Amino acid sequence: MNSNADDSGAELLAKPSGTAVSPLSIPRHVAIIMDGNGRWAQGRGLSRTEGHRRGMEAVRAAVETSRELGVSYLTLFSFSSENWSRPPLEIQFLFGLLRLFIQRDLANLHRNGVRVTVIGDRVRLSSDIRSLLEQAETLTRDNTGLRLVIAFNYGARDEITRAVRRLAEEVANGRLAPDAIDENTIRSRLDTADMPDPDLVIRTSGEMRLSNFLLWQAAYAELVFLPAYWPDFDRAAYLQAVEEYSRRARRFGGIAARRSG
Ligand code: IPE
Ligand code: IPE
Ligand code: MG
Repeated sequence: MNSNADDSGAELLAKPSGTAVSPLSIPRHVAIIMDGNGRWAQGRGLSRTEGHRRGMEAVRAAVETSRELGVSYLTLFSFSSENWSRPPLEIQFLFGLLRLFIQRDLANLHRNGVRVTVIGDRVRLSSDIRSLLEQAETLTRDNTGLRLVIAFNYGARDEITRAVRRLAEEVANGRLAPDAIDENTIRSRLDTADMPDPDLVIRTSGEMRLSNFLLWQAAYAELVFLPAYWPDFDRAAYLQAVEEYSRRARRFGGIAARRSG
């Protein structure tokens, strides 16, 4: 055992990569597209489902590192509205993993003050999954530590479509005037209404696209694409992404660079 283990976090904050001079900027909201489970497994002669299973361990590590760094919101893209096009057995396995994650990890998350919430369309989910998700949200509702946001059956176009439908109903009912609609009106009907926009979006597996993730909310997010497959995403990879984020100059359309965190 390393007797300095307790100091490692602080040391890394002071010297992110051993040689870097500036301290890390910690993003308030990190959103991750957890990609590459299938390729990780196939490269080892394993089944895709084994890759998903190992991916769940990387989820635990990502939650721990978020807590260690002081990230306030961690959003994990777990199942997209487009992932329904996968083979039924793989879909079943992914749903089973969500179930398992909540059954096995919820108590520990709760003990650590993590608040769990879910974004995405729940209507198409079976009632047992829906009630598990509600159970997780209810149990952890008053926690003030990390907010863990599970994006499940989530797609940004679907989310925006549902928000627009809600707005149209309010206009049709006479409860909302069309000219009263501004960006805040729309924002407040999205699944993420009570959260700040992501500062950092990480995607693993080398793919450089958003795949319908947080299209509205990521308008000014910093995007970091890592070559590692999701099951290999560990604390070091997370820190690497935060270091990259720390080097970015955020301007939000203005001219003065603003470091965020
Ligand atoms: C990410 O890994 C997990 C989900 C999308 C649910 P993939 O299953 O997409 O793995 P690859 O991209 O095929 O390697
Ligand atoms: C994005 O990964 C969805 C999740 C990580 C849940 P995909 O593997 O589904 O994305 P594409 O198909 O490569 O764009
Ligand atoms: Mg993929």
